[in-house]
Amino acid sequence: MYIIGGTASKTVAEDLSKELGVSLADTISKRFPDDEFYVRVIDNISGEDVVIVQTTYPDPNIVELFLLQNAVEEAGAKEISVVIPYFGYARQDTKFKEGEPISAKALANLISLSADRVVTVDPHKEYILDFFSTSAYSCSAVPELAKYLKQKNIDMVLAPDKGALERVKQASKIIECDFDYMEKTRIDGSTIEIKPKKLNVENKNVAIIDDIISTGGTMAKSIQELKKHGAKNVFVACTHGLFAGDAVKKLDSAGCNEIISTDTVQSKFSKVKIAPSIAPILKELIGSV
Ligand code: R5P
Repeated sequence: MYIIGGTASKTVAEDLSKELGVSLADTISKRFPDDEFYVRVIDNISGEDVVIVQTTYPDPNIVELFLLQNAVEEAGAKEISVVIPYFGYARQDTKFKEGEPISAKALANLISLSADRVVTVDPHKEYILDFFSTSAYSCSAVPELAKYLKQKNIDMVLAPDKGALERVKQASKIIECDFDYMEKTRIDGSTIEIKPKKLNVENKNVAIIDDIISTGGTMAKSIQELKKHGAKNVFVACTHGLFAGDAVKKLDSAGCNEIISTDTVQSKFSKVKIAPSIAPILKELIGSV
């Protein structure tokens, strides 16, 4: 069995190889002068179970995943498992307006063509797993995020909207603290409204947990609301830290005390490793691990 890390997920692949005691396959990759991608798997993977690890964000990493899948298939791998730490495009999971694509489905269809199974982490909505025509599974980063937050003397965990309530409930059990949620309305891609709500956070250390931080708008508004209510320290934690545009500046200006993300998308805020959440599910799914 071999693990192959795409350029977006090298660290996760290395961590998985250690967690599972499985070799990391050697690859070489480069970009041609016109920016097209080239990859070659050096090890002989014929007849082997192969796990490809690659986040599908930003866009060039999607093409890289397709090329890796094809390389592994052409090399005669026995079974191909695709681990997608962050499944980009998952938020366009329906036609919100006539004429739009179901982007999550489009991607899932293509990935399924050369995959015996797919594992992803905290997909925006669990039902997107049904878009894959191969077996698809998810795992949660919440236990690992909660373990990190437990060291920060958190008094309360908050979900920025009701949809994320289950996540904070689970985290609160591990941290052994209270939980609550805020009421968010999305106006458009970059504008959201957090309804004022009575929150008992005076002098408390509060952590807001979400699946994604993209523009930082959701978290910034939530931090402002918490500070208004007298929160002492506000931590923001997410599984997938995209930090688009001036997201970090927005969080800092709102008074955020610490930004925490996993390494599904690698950044300087990737303080929590995701491999320990993925390894057990691979162990269960692949006989040869
Ligand atoms: C939305 O439902 C997600 O769970 C996140 O709250 C959202 O993607 C965060 O986006 P942003 O950082 O742009 O507010």
